[in-house]
Amino acid sequence: MTTQFSATGSALELHRYPQTQISNLQAWDAADEHLLKWLDEQADICGPIGIINDSFGALTCGIRAKYPEQQLWGETDAKTSLLGIQHNLSRNQLKDDNISWLTSRDTLPSQSALVLMKLPKNLNYFAHQLIRLSAVMPQGSTLQIGARAKSINQSLLALIVKHFGPATASLAWKKTRVITAIADGKTRAEPKPQRWNVPEYGLTLSNLSNVFAANKLDIGARIMLENLPQGEFQQIIDLGCGNGVLGLRAASCYPDASVHFVDDSEMAVASARENWQSNGLEPERGHFHWDDCLTHLDAGLQADLVLCNPPFHQGEAITDHIAWQMFNDARKRLKPGGILHIVGNRHLGYHIKLKRLFGNCQTVASNGKFVILQSTK
Ligand SMILES: C[S@@+](CC[C@H](N)C(=O)[O-])C[C@H]1O[C@@H](n2cnc3c(N)ncnc32)[C@H](O)[C@@H]1O
Repeated sequence: MTTQFSATGSALELHRYPQTQISNLQAWDAADEHLLKWLDEQADICGPIGIINDSFGALTCGIRAKYPEQQLWGETDAKTSLLGIQHNLSRNQLKDDNISWLTSRDTLPSQSALVLMKLPKNLNYFAHQLIRLSAVMPQGSTLQIGARAKSINQSLLALIVKHFGPATASLAWKKTRVITAIADGKTRAEPKPQRWNVPEYGLTLSNLSNVFAANKLDIGARIMLENLPQGEFQQIIDLGCGNGVLGLRAASCYPDASVHFVDDSEMAVASARENWQSNGLEPERGHFHWDDCLTHLDAGLQADLVLCNPPFHQGEAITDHIAWQMFNDARKRLKPGGILHIVGNRHLGYHIKLKRLFGNCQTVASNGKFVILQSTK
């Protein structure tokens, strides 16, 4: 795997976050290079530049290297991206004191000279981001969107026209294109979170636009809900909580427990908090953390149950390194005798990992596709 990245005339060293992950994936892709190539071909830019959905800092570091004094702002929903960008700036001795960091719920700055954006995988989230931009980008200002050529089609361009303004795609370069979109100056209304019921558990849920499982129960989550462990638990972690459905159910099953909701997506943590409140649970029992796995959780927290429906991709990349990191972090945070209770696709072979880590792994339930596994510390 290469870490040497050259763009906008600078040689940079870029790593994914966390750097120690068991993966040979690179920290940037050809769409990053294409956006920076486009930028290099422009006359000098005056005024703040916005950067949206930068995975690990290729865009931010590339732009900062070219424009050391420029005011920048970056929007990301992923904690791993924010930490990755900040680590890569520091690794390359690039200034970060005039960069504003925003989540996908913060108010965006107005009057940006230019915004560069990577196309996210989730098109509902993309539409939401365009709507947010439509409210702040002056008529005639430019948004450049980098994406794999195969992700760009007429319906994607129509989506941009609907939510932001006229859009045209460049010629392909390294199997990517850059879409130039011009703000039409019309502000669109932000979508309301979708609200839906899980009647069998008496829950009402809502999801912000970048939260896993949109408006239905994930099939892995469903089998998990049908097979929660018996016991008297006091401290529970819902690791990779999404909208919080597992932790919300745990709060009813174990009425003495505090529940900690953790997710890499800031919108997921916000949805879990909103769902905790709207389901009438006691405020003092719910705790909400925007984090990469359990990296920054209070050192004193020792859990007796960790519930986890792990992801098997990071952005576009299929990978099990996050699941592995979640299992490792869970083991560190469990008290002796504490339980890690997970669901996974049968073919992913999580039992091998758990057995290696905990020395034990029990199959609690299974169907054709999923298994529920449990390991005790
Ligand atoms: C398969 S979904 C499960 C969501 C929910 N628990 C459920 O069962 O419906 C996996 C979740 O893990 C989160 N995730 C991905 N990488 C993470 C990381 N490094 N740290 C914490 N959460 C992460 C994703 O944002 C997503 O919400």
